Amino acid sequence: MIENLYAIVAMTEKTNAIGRAGDMLYHLKDDLKYFKSTTENNTIVCGRKTYFSFPKRPLPNRKNIVLTRGNTAFDGAYTMHSREEIIEYAKNNPDEKIFICGGDNIYKQFMDDVSKLYVTSIIEEKKVDADSFFPEILEEKWKLTSESEYICPDNAPKYKFLIYDRI
Ligand SMILES: NC(=O)c1ccc[n+]([C@@H]2O[C@H](COP(=O)([O-])OP(=O)(O)OC[C@H]3O[C@@H](n4cnc5c(N)ncnc54)[C@H](OP(=O)(O)O)[C@@H]3O)[C@@H](O)[C@H]2O)c1
Repeated sequence: MIENLYAIVAMTEKTNAIGRAGDMLYHLKDDLKYFKSTTENNTIVCGRKTYFSFPKRPLPNRKNIVLTRGNTAFDGAYTMHSREEIIEYAKNNPDEKIFICGGDNIYKQFMDDVSKLYVTSIIEEKKVDADSFFPEILEEKWKLTSESEYICPDNAPKYKFLIYDRI
């Protein structure tokens, strides 16, 4: 586990669904604000597909690191080519808070490395059709250390913010 490496995700409460056809399942106003305020002035790491799903790239006021096995350079963002390169970067920069922000593929690779999970937990009013999922949060590995009140938007599902620490 690496102290300064975290994951941040918005997912459905029961099925851990995070995306469909390359896009997010929900665009929740206060969740976007939460993501911004949590990650701003810090570092984010995302897979190439997630990076290209951002409407504005790179995300402002953050160091953006894109993971790709290809040779593409991303204007205004850093490029890294393996999980190991990120791990080494995190270890060499212990004062930097580094947020793994997806997608599916990337969360799975870093689940055993991150020390905190910032989870936006969304109530599924009806079963969602998804093709991307966050890994299971195992009780024996993670302790819930923070839980907000529910946010109840008028025309969107209700959701709350959870933080888990690695046991
Ligand atoms: N709800 C949320 O919080 C949330 C957050 C983020 C994403 N998402 C959703 O997740 C879905 C995308 O997930 P995804 O798994 O398809 O794509 P992804 O993780 O965003 O990107 C996958 C790409 O990352 C690169 N990559 C992965 N592992 C690597 C490694 N070890 N070393 C170097 N490069 C590596 C590869 O890029 P190359 O092909 O260029 O080599 C791979 O094709 C979308 O639906 C998105 O909306 C949801």
